[in-house]
Amino acid sequence: AEGDVESGEKVFKKCKACHMVGEGAKSRVGPALNDIFGMVAGTQDFKYSKALVAKGEEGLVWTEETVGEYLEKPRAYIKGTKMSFAGLKKEEDREDVIAYLMQFSPD
Ligand code: HEM
Repeated sequence: AEGDVESGEKVFKKCKACHMVGEGAKSRVGPALNDIFGMVAGTQDFKYSKALVAKGEEGLVWTEETVGEYLEKPRAYIKGTKMSFAGLKKEEDREDVIAYLMQFSPD
Protein backbone atom coordinates (compact mmCIF):
# COMPACT_ATOMS: atom_id res chain seq x y z
CA ALA A 1 0.00 0.00 0.00
CA GLU A 2 1.08 3.56 -0.61
CA GLY A 3 1.77 5.81 2.35
CA ASP A 4 1.52 9.58 2.27
CA VAL A 5 4.83 11.34 2.95
CA GLU A 6 3.32 14.58 4.29
CA SER A 7 1.03 12.77 6.72
CA GLY A 8 4.00 10.60 7.64
CA GLU A 9 6.01 13.66 8.60
CA LYS A 10 3.25 14.53 11.08
CA VAL A 11 3.13 11.00 12.45
CA PHE A 12 6.93 11.16 12.89
CA LYS A 13 6.42 13.80 15.60
CA LYS A 14 5.60 10.85 17.86
CA CYS A 15 9.01 9.37 17.13
CA LYS A 16 11.02 12.58 17.48
CA ALA A 17 11.23 12.40 21.25
CA CYS A 18 13.72 9.60 20.65
CA HIS A 19 14.74 9.48 16.98
CA MET A 20 16.34 11.76 14.43
CA VAL A 21 16.28 11.27 10.66
CA GLY A 22 17.74 13.24 7.75
CA GLU A 23 20.95 15.16 7.21
CA GLY A 24 23.11 15.23 10.31
CA ALA A 25 20.84 12.84 12.24
CA LYS A 26 22.47 11.30 15.28
CA SER A 27 21.47 8.54 17.62
CA ARG A 28 19.81 9.90 20.74
CA VAL A 29 17.46 7.93 23.01
CA GLY A 30 16.90 5.76 19.92
CA PRO A 31 19.11 5.10 16.89
CA ALA A 32 19.16 7.47 13.91
CA LEU A 33 16.75 6.28 11.22
CA ASN A 34 18.65 7.05 8.00
CA ASP A 35 19.05 4.21 5.51
CA ILE A 36 17.34 1.58 7.66
CA PHE A 37 15.42 -0.17 4.85
CA GLY A 38 17.44 -3.19 3.74
CA MET A 39 19.57 -2.97 6.89
CA VAL A 40 19.90 -5.87 9.33
CA ALA A 41 18.12 -4.84 12.54
CA GLY A 42 20.28 -3.59 15.38
CA THR A 43 23.50 -2.99 13.43
CA GLN A 44 24.13 0.73 13.85
CA ASP A 45 26.53 2.29 16.35
CA PHE A 46 23.99 2.31 19.17
CA LYS A 47 23.56 0.49 22.47
CA TYR A 48 20.63 -1.77 21.54
CA SER A 49 18.79 -4.24 23.72
CA LYS A 50 20.05 -7.82 23.56
CA ALA A 51 16.63 -8.73 22.17
CA LEU A 52 16.91 -6.49 19.10
CA VAL A 53 20.50 -7.55 18.39
CA ALA A 54 19.41 -11.20 18.63
CA LYS A 55 16.61 -10.58 16.10
CA GLY A 56 19.13 -9.16 13.67
CA GLU A 57 21.42 -12.13 14.20
CA GLU A 58 18.45 -14.37 13.44
CA GLY A 59 18.08 -12.55 10.12
CA LEU A 60 15.63 -9.71 10.71
CA VAL A 61 16.05 -7.11 7.97
CA TRP A 62 14.04 -3.87 8.06
CA THR A 63 11.55 -3.66 5.19
CA GLU A 64 8.21 -1.89 4.81
CA GLU A 65 6.62 -5.04 6.17
CA THR A 66 8.88 -5.67 9.17
CA VAL A 67 9.04 -2.01 10.25
CA GLY A 68 5.22 -1.98 10.02
CA GLU A 69 4.94 -5.01 12.28
CA TYR A 70 7.43 -3.58 14.78
CA LEU A 71 5.59 -0.25 14.89
CA GLU A 72 2.21 -1.87 15.38
CA LYS A 73 3.24 -3.41 18.70
CA PRO A 74 6.94 -2.99 19.36
CA ARG A 75 7.09 -5.05 22.53
CA ALA A 76 5.09 -7.93 21.05
CA TYR A 77 7.14 -8.08 17.83
CA ILE A 78 10.46 -7.97 19.72
CA LYS A 79 10.06 -9.19 23.27
CA GLY A 80 12.60 -7.33 25.38
CA THR A 81 13.03 -4.34 23.05
CA LYS A 82 13.92 -1.18 24.90
CA MET A 83 11.87 0.98 22.54
CA SER A 84 9.35 2.32 25.07
CA PHE A 85 6.64 3.13 22.58
CA ALA A 86 3.12 1.74 22.67
CA GLY A 87 2.93 1.55 18.89
CA LEU A 88 0.85 2.94 16.05
CA LYS A 89 -2.58 1.31 16.09
CA LYS A 90 -3.73 2.67 12.73
CA GLU A 91 -2.41 0.92 9.65
CA GLU A 92 -2.59 4.21 7.76
CA ASP A 93 -0.30 5.92 10.28
CA ARG A 94 2.20 3.08 9.93
CA GLU A 95 2.13 3.25 6.13
CA ASP A 96 2.51 7.02 6.16
CA VAL A 97 5.43 7.14 8.58
CA ILE A 98 7.14 4.36 6.59
CA ALA A 99 6.69 6.38 3.37
CA TYR A 100 8.24 9.36 5.17
CA LEU A 101 11.20 7.32 6.45
CA MET A 102 11.80 5.70 3.04
CA GLN A 103 12.81 9.13 1.73
CA PHE A 104 15.91 8.83 3.90
CA SER A 105 16.81 5.35 2.66
CA PRO A 106 18.25 5.82 -0.82
CA ASP A 107 18.37 2.55 -2.78
C1 HEM B 1 14.53 1.29 17.67
C2 HEM B 1 11.38 3.34 14.60
C3 HEM B 1 9.31 5.68 18.35
C4 HEM B 1 13.12 4.49 21.08
C5 HEM B 1 13.83 1.60 16.50
C6 HEM B 1 14.05 1.00 15.21
C7 HEM B 1 13.16 1.57 14.36
C8 HEM B 1 12.38 2.53 15.11
C9 HEM B 1 12.98 1.26 12.87
C10 HEM B 1 15.12 -0.04 14.88
C11 HEM B 1 16.34 0.69 14.30
C12 HEM B 1 17.61 -0.12 14.14
O1 HEM B 1 17.57 -1.36 14.03
O2 HEM B 1 18.69 0.53 14.09
C13 HEM B 1 10.55 4.17 15.35
C14 HEM B 1 9.44 4.94 14.81
C15 HEM B 1 8.81 5.54 15.87
C16 HEM B 1 9.57 5.21 17.05
C17 HEM B 1 9.10 5.04 13.31
C18 HEM B 1 7.54 6.37 15.88
C19 HEM B 1 6.43 5.93 15.16
C20 HEM B 1 10.19 5.62 19.40
C21 HEM B 1 10.04 6.31 20.66
C22 HEM B 1 11.10 5.95 21.44
C23 HEM B 1 11.93 5.05 20.65
C24 HEM B 1 8.90 7.28 21.01
C25 HEM B 1 11.45 6.38 22.86
C26 HEM B 1 10.48 6.49 23.81
C27 HEM B 1 13.80 3.49 20.41
C28 HEM B 1 14.89 2.71 21.00
C29 HEM B 1 15.27 1.77 20.02
C30 HEM B 1 14.43 2.00 18.86
C31 HEM B 1 15.48 2.88 22.39
C32 HEM B 1 16.27 0.63 20.19
C33 HEM B 1 15.43 -0.56 20.65
C34 HEM B 1 16.20 -1.76 21.17
O3 HEM B 1 17.44 -1.71 21.23
O4 HEM B 1 15.52 -2.73 21.54
N1 HEM B 1 12.81 2.52 16.41
N2 HEM B 1 10.60 4.37 16.70
N3 HEM B 1 11.34 4.86 19.43
N4 HEM B 1 13.56 3.03 19.14
FE1 HEM B 1 12.07 3.66 17.94
